[in-house]
Amino acid sequence: MTKLLVFSGSTRAASLNKKLAASTAAIAENEGAEVTLLDLADYPAAVYNGDDEAANGVPESMQKLKKIFAEHDGFIISSPEYNGHIPPLLTNTFSWASRSEGDEQGMVAFANKKAAIMAASPGRLGGIRMLPRLRDTLAELGIVVVPGFVTVPMATKAFTDDGALIDDATINSIRQLVGRLIAACH
Ligand SMILES: Cc1cc2nc3c(=O)[nH]c(=O)nc-3n(C[C@H](O)[C@H](O)[C@H](O)COP(=O)(O)O)c2cc1C
Repeated sequence: MTKLLVFSGSTRAASLNKKLAASTAAIAENEGAEVTLLDLADYPAAVYNGDDEAANGVPESMQKLKKIFAEHDGFIISSPEYNGHIPPLLTNTFSWASRSEGDEQGMVAFANKKAAIMAASPGRLGGIRMLPRLRDTLAELGIVVVPGFVTVPMATKAFTDDGALIDDATINSIRQLVGRLIAACH
């Protein structure tokens, strides 16, 4: 069974991207994947600094996260857009997770991974300017990002009170994107 890791690029308690990640995780389970929904808040790390790494090594939280990344076939990332770019949380997470420890091969956490990308925003563009940058970032880590994406614009109005996506067309787009990711992981 395809193992997918779903996470948000925001750790905010009321994060719209966390809601989108949770909805997507449920859809991916329905599509037949084995899904882990992860909150990066559970894997805190200081902003990457080479002196810190030289003195203390890769933080334990990031060692755990590298292992979790390595155990999955694909990632689904739902991220906010900050000033048109990917948020520092994702950059920092990828920086730490890209570091080798001991005689480990480079990029073990990202080897042979596939990914699908999504964005939610209260704005009208839904975070669309960030997505090519996230795609490029993942490509530099050696991850194959499947074609297409999902955006949820005006996202404060996109979910019911219990966090379910309201729009059927969005749900259908997610189903198609997840289907492409599962196919790519085979
Ligand atoms: C520093 C910063 C920059 C932002 N820049 C953008 C932006 O470029 N485009 C956009 O659609 N929203 C932007 N926003 C608004 C975010 O989309 C909004 O805060 C969103 O709720 C964050 O995602 P979350 O709900 O998953 O935490 C920005 C927010 C912050 C804090």
